[in-house]
Amino acid sequence: MEKQRENFGSKFGVIAAAAGSAVGLGNIYRFPCEAGENGGGAFLIVYLLIIVFLGIPLMLSEFIIGRRSHRNTVGAFKTLAPKTVWPIVGFVGVISSFLILAFYSTIAGWTLECIYKSLINFYHGKSISEIEQGMTTFNNSFRPFIWQTLFIILTAFIVLRGIEKGIEKYAKVLMPMLFVILIILCVKSLTLPNATEGLKFFFKPDFSKITPEVCISALGQAFFSLSVGMGVQITYGSYINKKDNLLTSSTSVVMTDTLVAILAGITIFPAAFAMGISPKAGAGLAFNTLPLIFNQMAGGYIFCLIFFILLAIAALTSTISLLEASVAYFVEEHAIKRKKATIWCAIGALIVGLFATLSLKDNSNLVIGNMSFFNILDNLTANILMPVGGLLITIFIGWRLKKTAFIDELTNQGTTKIALKNIIFFITKYIAPLAIVTIIVGRLVFNIK
Ligand code: TRP
Repeated sequence: MEKQRENFGSKFGVIAAAAGSAVGLGNIYRFPCEAGENGGGAFLIVYLLIIVFLGIPLMLSEFIIGRRSHRNTVGAFKTLAPKTVWPIVGFVGVISSFLILAFYSTIAGWTLECIYKSLINFYHGKSISEIEQGMTTFNNSFRPFIWQTLFIILTAFIVLRGIEKGIEKYAKVLMPMLFVILIILCVKSLTLPNATEGLKFFFKPDFSKITPEVCISALGQAFFSLSVGMGVQITYGSYINKKDNLLTSSTSVVMTDTLVAILAGITIFPAAFAMGISPKAGAGLAFNTLPLIFNQMAGGYIFCLIFFILLAIAALTSTISLLEASVAYFVEEHAIKRKKATIWCAIGALIVGLFATLSLKDNSNLVIGNMSFFNILDNLTANILMPVGGLLITIFIGWRLKKTAFIDELTNQGTTKIALKNIIFFITKYIAPLAIVTIIVGRLVFNIK
């Protein structure tokens, strides 16, 4: 007998849950990193185009697959395309989520270090070079391992207890708080001397800087940030109420996520230019710049502390969804007990993750070519596995599921009027796969590093 499946109680519930998975370190840490390293404005414009023409169709496609099949990522393909190789797409998604968890937990651990540093008032009165020095010392010590282990244990504990619902309830309150603090920070940052230089860097596109490398980075970042391209949103889609409008739901999630990323950019770049931090500073961009802004604010101590606590929670809601993806696969497809699956997946991610952390130390020899093991995992998932996953999902929707099913879900069996439905299908069937292939091939052909 099929178990009665739960549905989200309200439309806000769906958007909040899917946005909870999407909003995380990807927006506040990874987005500014990528934008900074890839020419600022040039990156932003490509990123926004990708969000509109690929991000929304892909999120919508995943919601459609999920709601139509009512199953998890692998199961959805088994239901909609029985006895085919399509479930492999779901399987690749499970592997990606495992690998993402491994390196994501390194950075998630940093948020705990920042909470600790805020608590002991480490940042107070420190100059940028002192804060940078503190970060280097931290990275070369054993502390990153402790924090990372702690973070994974916390994630596993929550996944094991199945209290995600509780966490989600808190996240619905805490994430808007993160948003508010981000806006306050943004305003402060814009009043710093030289702020306009940062804004120019972030918003003024230099078209000559749009290279295949910039396009693939923007594509990878968009998919990473939206949590699309690996079927995570299929699972959320499977819980969406039959009456909800999938187009408005997916668009709202995408817009929320993008807004947070842009706010992070408007906060970080002006401050970085004001304090003389290079936009190419990578990891330090978010983690070293933000405490400096807090330093200049009234009530900075408490704002800084609250901000890093909220960032840690945003990261936690993301790591929960990442671990849950592997656990659900083993539990539902291989009948392994939830406890056993959680423990082993967490231990596995921790082992791979410790190597990722180790590779970020100075003079680490976990480097291949000029890429650390951390960056290899990051590039492999965001720039290869997720785009390929996204490509296959759009092909599945456009060429396997067929137009009638797509339109049927999009319009709720014809009861909802969607003006652009044919155009949306056309984009999903032709434009999206073609664009993804062009970006992947373009990068391979023109820009092998
Ligand atoms: N999107 C999250 C972020 O921006 C990271 C994340 C959580 C993720 N779950 C995911 C990425 C699933 C890809 C797939 O921080």
